[in-house]
Amino acid sequence: MKKIDIAILGLGTVGGGTYQVIEREREQIAKKEGFELNVKKVLALDYSVPIPDEKKAKDIEEIVNDPDIKIVVELIGGKTVAKKFILAALKAGKTVVSANKELIANCWQELQDAAMETGAGFYFEASVGGGIPILRSVQESLQANTIRSLSAIINGTTNYILTNMEDNGSDFDVVLKEAQQLGYAEADPTSDIEAFDSMYKLSILSSLAFGVHIPIDHIHREGITRITGLDMQLAHELGMTIKLLAIAKKDGDTVEARVHPTMIPLSHPLANVKGVFNSIFMNGSAVGDVMFYGRGAGDFPTASAVVSDIIYAVNADGKHKYAPYIGKDDPNVIFNTNWTSSYYLRFSVADKPGVLSAITGIMGKYNVGIASVIQKGTGSDDVPLIFVTYDTKEEDMNAALKEICLLDAVNEVSSCIRVEA
Ligand code: HSE
Repeated sequence: MKKIDIAILGLGTVGGGTYQVIEREREQIAKKEGFELNVKKVLALDYSVPIPDEKKAKDIEEIVNDPDIKIVVELIGGKTVAKKFILAALKAGKTVVSANKELIANCWQELQDAAMETGAGFYFEASVGGGIPILRSVQESLQANTIRSLSAIINGTTNYILTNMEDNGSDFDVVLKEAQQLGYAEADPTSDIEAFDSMYKLSILSSLAFGVHIPIDHIHREGITRITGLDMQLAHELGMTIKLLAIAKKDGDTVEARVHPTMIPLSHPLANVKGVFNSIFMNGSAVGDVMFYGRGAGDFPTASAVVSDIIYAVNADGKHKYAPYIGKDDPNVIFNTNWTSSYYLRFSVADKPGVLSAITGIMGKYNVGIASVIQKGTGSDDVPLIFVTYDTKEEDMNAALKEICLLDAVNEVSSCIRVEA
């Protein structure tokens, strides 16, 4: 039986999971695919699983100069060493499989150009949604559709934190600490909680879904650090919950792409995506609504996508080796930042006569319609006053908030969370 020699770079959680999946599933893969996967070399600083000494490479040259190795699997992460090693492999004509969303979102064109120069393949299913087969589904199962919109929970750490805040009524800092102790959040959680991770994934996913490059600098990004237990509780009172959503919409040549905490009705399909799970909800012109659900991280779930890419690469006949529209940004695309949304607003105000009418007066001036108002508590200098607005233009909302902040009776805008139906 044909044997496919591969090399794995990086043997952390995902690298170790990939190695183990290949070992465990070798036989059934061989039976179905007609070839056997063989990890010939592993290059790593630390080994999360035992590896026979003869498989340990001493440097990247040993791998790129090995004519038997056709596929190099990069699972190091980050933008420095990983990039150097990927480029070396691609320049040597080796197909690369990677889960590195940060690198791909930042350097997609450069990596793709390097691959195209030698005809090597470049695949990255595991970069978005971990084990969820979303990129291949978009490229190979939804071609009949113009994708009009997508909303996605594509960061497990933040979904775990928000779910715990929802279930236990705790504040963000408390849950983050617990998540770190349990290993669900990194020691440095910035990339997850400030939504960089979701932004990288949205760039890759929406580019493939829309067929135009959506660079990260056109994606509006807000993290979850300002969400409080009170907001979560109020969301429930309003029949909603709060999720970190990655949202992209395309209408003709106009595109909007944003990642931010979002209130959604409890009846929304994404509202029931709990804990570390990821989910992508899309609308296509032919299929209508379609939803994907699964584990967005972890050793074996991510390895499932990595190994799928390896097998795909072996079978590929040149299709979907590259995304042709990556490389030059489309001058016709208009990136809309003045999108329409309704808003949940929580102000801290002094409970005095006239404060409500002063705030609503400013909102009226900027065309911000009010759907509901709640005041919590009475008679003090600091009571929460909550509004849910009708659909409003982002710029109008920002202008209104700027002016509302100047009112004497308004202590602060405590929360401003977009609401999606
Ligand atoms: N840090 C990511 C998450 C996992 O929390 O979903 C890897 O993409």
